[in-house]
Amino acid sequence: MSDQQAQKQAAAKAALNYVEDGMILGVGTGSTVNCLIELLPTVKLAGAVASSQVTEDKLRALGIEIVDLNFAGTLDIYIDGADEVNEHLQLIKGGGGALTREKIVAAASNKFICMVDESKSVEILGREFPVPIEVLPQARSYVARQLVSLGGEPVYREDFVTDYGNVILDTYDLDVSNPIELEKTLNNIVGVVCNGIFAANQADVLLKASSDGVTTLTR
Ligand code: 5RP
Repeated sequence: MSDQQAQKQAAAKAALNYVEDGMILGVGTGSTVNCLIELLPTVKLAGAVASSQVTEDKLRALGIEIVDLNFAGTLDIYIDGADEVNEHLQLIKGGGGALTREKIVAAASNKFICMVDESKSVEILGREFPVPIEVLPQARSYVARQLVSLGGEPVYREDFVTDYGNVILDTYDLDVSNPIELEKTLNNIVGVVCNGIFAANQADVLLKASSDGVTTLTR
């Protein structure tokens, strides 16, 4: 097993400590979350709200009841991974294309617990990983031009459609030195459904795994 995979598993094991019997758990998407999902049968959940169809299918396969967010009320916790995280627990997410549903479930939860391996920590967001932006299909070219005017280099994610039937522009070279401002600016472009900067609603708890163990950071 690679060191990175071992770190993902360690972060997921640490996240499991926050999960209690009887909870309706918000569950993210991605390979780190998959490590958590494997551990969930050890807890008696009342149900789970899934952040993607892929996660929903995995949870169902384990016999975990899927709850519609509209009937779940405010969730106690939402657990997910990230593509990048800075020291303020602000994130870039959406590498798996589930950013919109992830942002909704995170916003509807009291506590967002983020699990990462050490490769995800950065000083400034967006220097290496592009900002994924979910866009209505018809607005793709218009939004791309707006992103270029902001200094970005949008790349259309080929052969990919989100759970909501939209497309993704993975946008390089944006200046993410002020993540809260850029998150708002991107949201204001007509045709943008959601962007992968999680700064206004950043993580509340970061479980950061390294080869020395898991460090817990809170805001
Ligand atoms: C999916 C996400 C994931 O949380 C992010 O891509 C991290 O994935 P992984 O745990 O596989 O590294 O935002 O949309």
